[in-house]
Amino acid sequence: MYSSKIAGIGHYVPQQVVTNNDLSRYMDTTDEWVQERTGIKERRYGLRHKETTTTMAVEAAKIAIERAGIDKNELDFIIFATLSPDYYFPGCGVLLQRALGISGNTCGALDIRNQCSGFIYALSVADQFIRTGMYKNILVVGSEMHSMGLDFSTRGRNVTVIFGDGAGVAVLQASDREGSGVLTTKLHADGTHAEMLSFISPGCHGGYHDEDKEKFGFPDDEYGGLFITQKMIDDHLTYPFMDGQFVFKMAVQKFPEVINEALESVGLKKEDINMLIPHQANLRISQFVQRVLGLRDDQVWNNIQKYGNTTAASIPIALSEAWEAGKIKEGDLVCLAAFGSGFTWGSALIRW
Ligand code: COA
Repeated sequence: MYSSKIAGIGHYVPQQVVTNNDLSRYMDTTDEWVQERTGIKERRYGLRHKETTTTMAVEAAKIAIERAGIDKNELDFIIFATLSPDYYFPGCGVLLQRALGISGNTCGALDIRNQCSGFIYALSVADQFIRTGMYKNILVVGSEMHSMGLDFSTRGRNVTVIFGDGAGVAVLQASDREGSGVLTTKLHADGTHAEMLSFISPGCHGGYHDEDKEKFGFPDDEYGGLFITQKMIDDHLTYPFMDGQFVFKMAVQKFPEVINEALESVGLKKEDINMLIPHQANLRISQFVQRVLGLRDDQVWNNIQKYGNTTAASIPIALSEAWEAGKIKEGDLVCLAAFGSGFTWGSALIRW
């Protein structure tokens, strides 16, 4: 059996900086409110008509591939995590493969839709492929272009102020060094509260989960054309929904739980963690997790202040930044953890 290591990591964030004060021109919010509740000062938005979830991933992937010291044609597989794909289908994995110009264009490409825990799910899937010897080099991608799908009116303010755009990519590579690389990944999901953090319309639900089909504008006696209705647009149903307080309560419970589960499974303790990279959901959540684990400030990487929550991209962006800053060294124990929509959550332990 092989183990898998992160051979290269890279990230890309768009140039356009959007501050909390910029947002207050569109909606009833203040810099003070956003910073106090979330820690976010600003976020990046991609350039309309120029950047997409895939184009940002291309930039991050080029850096990761170069740092891994491989040729793009040595990639065996692509796993792309996003909740904001360029197209409803096909997925971004094939678009990235095309844009990178991988010769022959035949390596497999898989899209993962696990929102904030998407990168950890993608990493775990890639790790299994490498452990079994099926693949040697896998591109593991998290990229999001949230700014295209947010409600910039006051109605959407609780969600819109949180999210930003960006991409992070890792090259996961087979290694024969025992006891290093990805030590373990833990994945969980509980669909009981699926709609508590969701973006359900447009979609193929046909009002199934709602007794009042009128809410979405679905006539009973028609086929087709119901994926998106004018009523959905008129009623602002084509935007994300979040019960923030409920999500917060679940997150502060699940983060420590899944980190401890990973540590216990490989016989390590929280004191062994050199660097925790939590999904950047909310600075208050990360600070809570840090306190519970008893970690110092320099053992936790937070960048939500600059980028907001970039969902599937947040962990690889933070990992790339921490690595660039020289905060992750060979032999360090790096812990990744995420919680988000689904609900889905997970963790990974990596001996660098
Ligand atoms: N600016 C100003 N006021 C806002 C606002 C904004 N951007 N968003 C919401 N408010 C208002 C609400 O309308 C509400 O007003 P009301 O009391 O008059 O009804 C008030 O602030 C409190 O709203 P509430 O939703 O209870 O705030 P909160 O303290 O829970 O903070 C979040 C909201 C979203 C910041 C917080 O719940 C949170 O971060 N939750 C976790 C979200 C998360 O991590 N999501 C990603 C998961 S991966």
